[in-house]
This record gives sequence, structure tokens and C-alpha cells, in this order.
Amino acid sequence: MENWLKTVNIRLLREEDLPELEWGGEYKRYRRIYREIYRNSQKGLSIPLIAETAAEGIVGQVFLSQKEPNLNYGIRTRYYFLSSFRVRAEFRDHGVGSLLLQECEKQARLHRIRDIYLNCERTNNRARWFYQEHGFKVVRIDEGTWTYVNDEGFVVTEPQNAYLMKKTLSWILFK
Ligand SMILES: CC(C)(COP(=O)(O)OP(=O)(O)OC[C@H]1O[C@@H](n2cnc3c(N)ncnc32)[C@H](O)[C@@H]1OP(=O)(O)O)[C@@H](O)C(=O)NCCC(=O)NCCS
Repeated sequence: MENWLKTVNIRLLREEDLPELEWGGEYKRYRRIYREIYRNSQKGLSIPLIAETAAEGIVGQVFLSQKEPNLNYGIRTRYYFLSSFRVRAEFRDHGVGSLLLQECEKQARLHRIRDIYLNCERTNNRARWFYQEHGFKVVRIDEGTWTYVNDEGFVVTEPQNAYLMKKTLSWILFK
């Protein structure tokens, strides 16, 4: 492990972090989503995690949102949906993403939630490889659109062509 990696701190998102999640404007359009995730974390419905270093501030993020069983999809227990997973480009491939994922799994176990789902764009081979290396499997193709309200209050519909991926945490590690 490289020295700077040892100084990476994984912690919960705080309200004052919200502007920094926009990465200088690149993700400004998701402002309302981030605020919603933060509010949900205050109600115990989401776990937004931040990776930071003392020198660089926030270098990565991942959000876990708690979802209820969905019998339409044959999902019979509560689960976490993982989203907005990213590490700043210059810090990738050094283990920060793995640290964030480890913490996600730790949190899932703490909350007795066994299944973690996520969407990975079908063109994002690198991310899919990363997830597979960490035990996620493709369960379905999710094609269509998704809709959100941007920072200016407009409803935006974006195309989605993603793999739905899932990891079931082992029972043994729940003990
Ligand atoms: C996907 C993403 C979050 C992974 O984060 P990361 O910090 O690069 O992840 P890691 O460094 O833990 O692992 C990446 C690779 O680096 C390698 N690596 C891990 N620790 C390392 C170290 N200390 N030294 C060198 N390489 C290392 C791993 O082998 C890993 O390879 P793998 O993908 O074959 O498992 C990051 O690539 C990213 O932000 N991508 C753009 C946004 C994105 O696509 N997000 C996913 C949306 S679905």
C-alpha cells in the first residue's frame, strides 16, 4: 500500500461537503440528488461515504441507499443500491475504490443487509471488471431511461443502458 493511501479516511458525508461533490461544476446537475441522499442519511435511509486525504480533501465517494423488497423483480428482502461511485481520476488504481467498497460491505453487515445492487453502464468495461473482481455478478440488463431534477429545477431524462449487478454477502461473515 502506498503511503498516501494509508492516510485516506473513509467517513460519512457531511452537509458542508455537498459543494465539493460537484467537482468544480462537472456534477453540478446532480446537486439535488446529492442533497436528497444527504437528507436520507439523516433519516437512516442512506449511507453516503466519502474518501478524503488531509492534503487533497475529497478524493472519492460512494452512496448506499436502502431499498425495500421488490417482488416485481423477485427481491424478497431489503437491499442496498450503490450509486455515484467515483474516485478522482488522478487517484484511481491505488486502492481508494476498494477501500470505499470494503466500507460499503462493512456497513451492509452492520445493518444486516445482505444484498448490494448497482447499475454499471454497459460501455464501462473498466468499472464492470472492478466490480466483478470484487464479487459482483451481472443479473440483468437495464435498458431505457432514468429521470432526475437538475440543479435548475428542470426534469432531465437520460438514456440508460446498464448491467444490473449484485453481490450477496456471505453468511459466515455475518456472525
Ligand atoms: C471504478 C472506480 C470507482 C474504482 O476506483 P479505484 O480507486 O480506481 O479502485 P482501486 O484502485 O481499488 O482498484 C482499481 C484497480 O487498481 C488496482 N489496485 C488496487 N490497489 C492498488 C495499488 N495499491 N497499487 C496499484 N494498483 C492497485 C486493482 O488491482 C484494481 O484492479 P481491478 O479493477 O482489476 O480490481 C474508479 O475507477 C472510477 O472512479 N471510475 C470512473 C467512474 C466510474 O466508472 N464509476 C463506476 C460507475 S458504475
